[in-house]
Amino acid sequence: MGHMVLRALGLLLSLLILTEAARNFWLLQERVLQWREVQAMKETLSKRQLLRPVPWRSPTEGVLRQPLDHFNRQEGRVFNQRFWVNEEYWHLPAGPVFLYIGGESSLSQFSVLSGHHMEMAQKYGALAVALEHRFYGASINPDGLQDDSLRFLSSQQALADLASFHLFITQKYNLTQNNTWICFGGSYPGSLAAWFRLKFPHLVFAAVASSAPVRAQLDFTGYNQVVAASLSDPVVGGSAKCHGAVVQAFSAVDERLDAGRLAELEKDFHSCGPLREPSDREQLASNLADIFMGAVQYNSEGFQDGSVAKLCHIMLDEGLGSPYQRLMAVNKDFLEAMAFPCMQNSHQRLVDELRSTNLSLTGVGERQWYFQTCTEFGYYQTCEDDTCPFSRFMTLSSQLDLCAQVFGVAAERVAEAVNFTNEYYGADHPKASRILFVNGDIDPWHALSVLKNQSRSELAILINGTSHCANMSPSKPSDPLPLILAREWIDYHVGDWLRLARKVRSAS
Ligand SMILES: *[C@@H]1O[C@H](CO)[C@@H](O)[C@H](O)[C@H]1NC(C)=O
Ligand SMILES: *[C@@H]1O[C@H](CO)[C@@H](O)[C@H](O)[C@H]1NC(C)=O
Ligand SMILES: *[C@@H]1O[C@H](CO)[C@@H](O)[C@H](O)[C@H]1NC(C)=O
Ligand SMILES: *[C@@H]1O[C@H](CO)[C@@H](O)[C@H](O)[C@H]1NC(C)=O
Ligand SMILES: *[C@@H]1O[C@H](CO)[C@@H](O)[C@H](O)[C@H]1NC(C)=O
Ligand SMILES: *[C@@H]1O[C@H](CO)[C@@H](O)[C@H](O)[C@H]1NC(C)=O
Repeated sequence: MGHMVLRALGLLLSLLILTEAARNFWLLQERVLQWREVQAMKETLSKRQLLRPVPWRSPTEGVLRQPLDHFNRQEGRVFNQRFWVNEEYWHLPAGPVFLYIGGESSLSQFSVLSGHHMEMAQKYGALAVALEHRFYGASINPDGLQDDSLRFLSSQQALADLASFHLFITQKYNLTQNNTWICFGGSYPGSLAAWFRLKFPHLVFAAVASSAPVRAQLDFTGYNQVVAASLSDPVVGGSAKCHGAVVQAFSAVDERLDAGRLAELEKDFHSCGPLREPSDREQLASNLADIFMGAVQYNSEGFQDGSVAKLCHIMLDEGLGSPYQRLMAVNKDFLEAMAFPCMQNSHQRLVDELRSTNLSLTGVGERQWYFQTCTEFGYYQTCEDDTCPFSRFMTLSSQLDLCAQVFGVAAERVAEAVNFTNEYYGADHPKASRILFVNGDIDPWHALSVLKNQSRSELAILINGTSHCANMSPSKPSDPLPLILAREWIDYHVGDWLRLARKVRSAS
């Protein structure tokens, strides 16, 4: 228990150190991640009744030695991969195993303490295990971010890690066929959950894939189409007028960019430095859009002032002046909320940050993730399509240039990699079974997920009015009805799978 409290305090302290990031979106992501950890910690501590201590077993943290390359045994190097196990709810000997999959950022012990999957672990008497993704968090060698090491970072290697973790846990806990595995993940790890079931059906009986963009796409124009729709959606406090004001504000930004009125833009949006290069101007345009994209993707999670409703409130406030002036106000509020004196629009800073091989053991792995977009997924959130409400300066070519500049991956190779990923996993029509795809219709990522039932056991739930991975959070009394019903459906399917697994076993 003392151990737990110390860790909790350590976590709170780490929040005081604001991470630097060259893109506003990354800042928001980092913020949301930290917020989720704090929520999980609060929930865990209150559930454990800190003030009236009751005995409980805290999760075990361990490391597993994994081959750096599962597909080449002549490569002898290994790395240590972190995992957590929570035995608290496990009904021996036949209780199921719930596997929580990591990716894109570090994991923590809260991956086996808090969240909807843990509510179900308690209900179904499951052993809860979680595996941090290779090359993220502490699951990386000291030289892991060097260009030469990154070739061992891929979803294929990550799935092989999961297979070897399955073997390790099975041996460590003397598991048998009676212990049914179900895997869970959200966002990219949601895709991994679906793919683990697809490629390793003998290891995992079923999967819940939340907000999983299983279709790779080079030019992800659909992202900002959903952002536009969400800014117009009254369910989250948007409106057609709000959307219209955003469009006007960004076209006023573009007019100034086109006319070379750079000093004005630098002053109006508190740019940290001059917009010297064309790429700095693209950076400004992206940073401004990020505030809206982040609001839609996370809708006020971790950043109260960053909800669609709050942004629309400002964008509709005629007292502030023109839509352009209202956008200035949105940006000013954002910088204040993040406690930043100015907006970092230097493209060179972005390139330096992505090139940096300095390890950070917590948070989002921006270099690693960008590498995975260049070599597997694309997912570039561009604005060249007429339906996009933001700046036309957010181009596909500027994002592809980063792949070449930072990793030496040419645009043509990125396009080929994306096509291969879809061929390899089946895109948004995977021919699997017993997978539940859960998405929120506000979340821009749903555009690349499975939204329709594929078969009697490959099912989709689209939640009205929720954003990215909302169903994975712990249940709250204030949750909207569609979210409550979605969690009930997920729970129903998990129970159903476990019943089916028992039936299959007793028949064989
Ligand atoms: C697994 O089985 C071995 C040998 O029967 C035993 O020594 C060990 O304690 C068991 N481990 C667990 C976690 O039950
Ligand atoms: C699985 O459970 C069944 C029924 O409880 C039991 O008869 C069987 O021995 C178990 N199998 C293993 C491998 O433990
Ligand atoms: C990486 O670490 C070095 C040495 O500690 C430091 O000088 C540099 O600023 C860091 N780079 C980044 C991008 O954080
Ligand atoms: C990738 O697939 C798309 C759609 O099928 C096709 O238009 C494109 O030419 C392919 N690109 C490459 C580099 O193979
Ligand atoms: C998908 O299947 C489930 C369960 O069979 C059903 O309740 C649901 O209505 C179906 N959804 C759609 C969109 O057809
Ligand atoms: C979502 O819910 C709102 C009410 O909160 C309703 O007006 C709207 O029609 C629903 N949308 C869909 C697609 O069901």
